[in-house]
Formats: sequence, structure tokens, C-alpha cells
Amino acid sequence: MPTYAHITGWGMAVPERIMTNDDLAKIVDTSDEWIVSRTGIRERRIAGDKETTASLATKAAFRALDRTDLHPHDIDMVIVATATPEHLFPATACLVQDAIGAINAGAFDLSAACSGFIYGVSLASEAIRGGAIRNAVVIGSETLSRFIDWDDRETCILFGDGAGAIVLQASERPGGILASVMRADGSGGNLLSIPAGGSRRPATVETVHKKQHYIQMNGREVFRFATRVMADATRQVAEKARLRIEDLSIIIPHQANRRIIEAAARGLDLPMDRFFVNLDRYGNTSSASIPMAVVEAVEAGRITPGSRVVMVGFGAGLTWGALAVEWVAPERKISQAKRQQRRLRARFWGLRSVYRRFVRWIEGLIFGAHVPGDENDRFS
Ligand code: COA
Repeated sequence: MPTYAHITGWGMAVPERIMTNDDLAKIVDTSDEWIVSRTGIRERRIAGDKETTASLATKAAFRALDRTDLHPHDIDMVIVATATPEHLFPATACLVQDAIGAINAGAFDLSAACSGFIYGVSLASEAIRGGAIRNAVVIGSETLSRFIDWDDRETCILFGDGAGAIVLQASERPGGILASVMRADGSGGNLLSIPAGGSRRPATVETVHKKQHYIQMNGREVFRFATRVMADATRQVAEKARLRIEDLSIIIPHQANRRIIEAAARGLDLPMDRFFVNLDRYGNTSSASIPMAVVEAVEAGRITPGSRVVMVGFGAGLTWGALAVEWVAPERKISQAKRQQRRLRARFWGLRSVYRRFVRWIEGLIFGAHVPGDENDRFS
């Protein structure tokens, strides 16, 4: 009997702090009118001092797990798609794995920028359908505000922070993730990048001085690329899933720019109301944008059991991709009491992590090994 991969949980987390277009107009030479007319964005969320890519991802993952009957021990794989990881290593996914108590899971980050969530779900669903794993958590999480040049009006108006997560589970019931498309064109890598901070250009006084640790973008070229691939990828994935474009219930596009989504709608000959748009409130949250839009589309009743959904994204790399999904998951909320019980358990897992570090520290004292970084507790 074939195995299918179903989305059974979904959750999102955004920072509380809202930055409006008017707030931005106090920093750079721009206006609410310009930003709204060229992008559709009205406001975005900005991470506070204590919020990080892992903390937002952890919150989103807990909320997604809250909707399922899974115990964290049942999770086989944690994927965090992110362009703004906490460190080059360890992977942000490992910090999340530890925080949610997924002690039987493998965990890794996926670097495909704004297409990362699509890539992650594609990989995890194939692993489920192939029988290698049964349950996975796929998260898109970003703190892009930390990589923005707040003097560059072409980029600082676009991006925001947030996280979205889904739980994928194996099932014998047909449906779930039907097909995926993953594509890349590295020849366009220079169009959208953070040039320094990797092995090619490690941090120096010069890289900092030249602002090479911030997002640099050729907006017009990225715009041209995006309008081309959104419609193409949607068509390709629909064909793979044997769905007709006109039969799609809803399309969840990457939330970069309303004009890009409108161009995709024209290219597919579909009305705009077939597309879910929430970029007016969050801006472009890169890998988090699609899962956050999925969560809000479900909450708004735009995705219901039986919906045929296409998720489609593009981003730095250049990368792009799409997923076709037959949504079968019933709305299943876990009771408040059970949720509280889970939160307590999560705290316990946090303690477990402290305990394991303590044991490592004692061992270090006994055997003379020094674990760099432990003295600062950097990964908590
Ligand atoms: N406020 C006011 N004026 C601005 C501005 C801002 N925030 N940003 C740029 N401008 C100016 C430009 O300097 C330019 O002025 P000029 O004509 O005097 O040179 C003018 O507005 C038009 O610039 P242009 O680049 O043609 O604007 P645009 O309509 O292409 O919009 C973007 C610019 C960045 C919004 C658009 O190109 C875009 O969205 N690109 C895709 C970016 C993206 O999605 N990136 C993430 C991919 S995952």
C-alpha cells in the first residue's frame, strides 16, 4: 500500500514589534505611498533583542505540533529552511530540535533562501513517501532585519521577520503532498546576496566598512526573474500532480511583492482572489513567507479539507520551486489542558539540555577537556 505525506500541523510566530512604512520614512528617503504602490507592503515585524531565528522557529514548531497527536519523540526529522541562521554552525535546526525535545530526530538547515520551505517540504515528503521516516517538522524562519542595511531604501522596505512551521506525517490515506518542483540557476547568484561572512570573504574591517554583511540586491532583475518563474513553476507542478490550473482552489505564493503576484495571476489567467496575500502585514519574510501564509489561509477558511493548493516561491540562488497539495487534514485542536501539559514537558526538555551541558562540563573538569563557548552558554 503506498504511503502519503500529509500536513497535519501548522503554526507561525512573529515578533511583536511592528514597523510601518511611515516609520521607515523617518529613516530613509521613502514614503508610504511609494512602498504601497510598488510593493503592496504596509508594515513588517522586527525581532526584538531576545528574539532569534531559532526562538521564532521553536515557537512556530510548538504551535504546529499542538495541532497534532504527536509526541516530540515521534519526530524523525527537523528541517529549518533559513537564509538567516543563528550561526554558520551548529545548524539552527539543531537548536530547535533540542528546544522542542525531538530527541530521536535528525536536524539540519536548508539554504535555498525564499524557496527553502518548498525545498524542505519536498525533501521531507519524499523521505516519508519512500518509507525512510514517518514524521517531520519543516520550518521556515528568518530574522532578516539583522542583515538589512537600514540606509538602503531599495532593500530595507521589503523585508521582515517571522517563522512558519508545518508537521508532515505518513498516512495510507491518499492525498497530501502530490508533487513538487525544485529548480535553480546559480548564474544569477549575484543578483541577491550577502557577499561577505562566508569562507570566500570572511569578516574583516574592510567587509564591515563596505557593508558586505548586508543584503545586496538588483531589484529590477530579481523582479523580472520572479515574474517569469512563478507562473512556470505553478504550471509544472500542477501538470505533475495531474491538476488543471483552473481546478486549483488556492495558490499560496511567496510574499515578496504584490506586483509579482499580479503578474503570476495574469500569466496563469487566474483572478487575483485565487491567490492568498498577507505581505501587506509582514513584508517579505523569505523562507517563512509561504508557511506563514498557509497558517493564515487555513485560519481564514481559505484552505479546507479537499482544497487543492499550490505553494510557489522564488529567491536568492537563484532558486525557485512549487508544491501541489491536496489538503485532507481535518482541523484538530488539542485541548488547553493538554497544551499546557506539553508546555511543561517542553520546559522539562529545556532542563534536560542544561543538564547535558552540566554533565559535559563536569566531564571536562575530570578529563581536562575544554568545550569552547560553554562558559558563555551561547546556544541557549
Ligand atoms: N522609496 C522611494 N523611491 C525608491 C525606493 C523607495 N524605497 N526604492 C527605489 N526608489 C526609486 C529608485 O531610486 C528609482 O529612482 P530613479 O528612477 O530616480 O532612479 C525609482 O524609485 C524606481 O526604481 P525601480 O527600481 O525601477 O523601482 P521598481 O518599480 O522596480 O521597484 C523594487 C523596486 C525593489 C520594489 C522592485 O524592483 C522589486 O520588488 N524587485 C524584486 C525584489 C524582491 O522581491 N526581492 C526579494 C526576492 S526573494
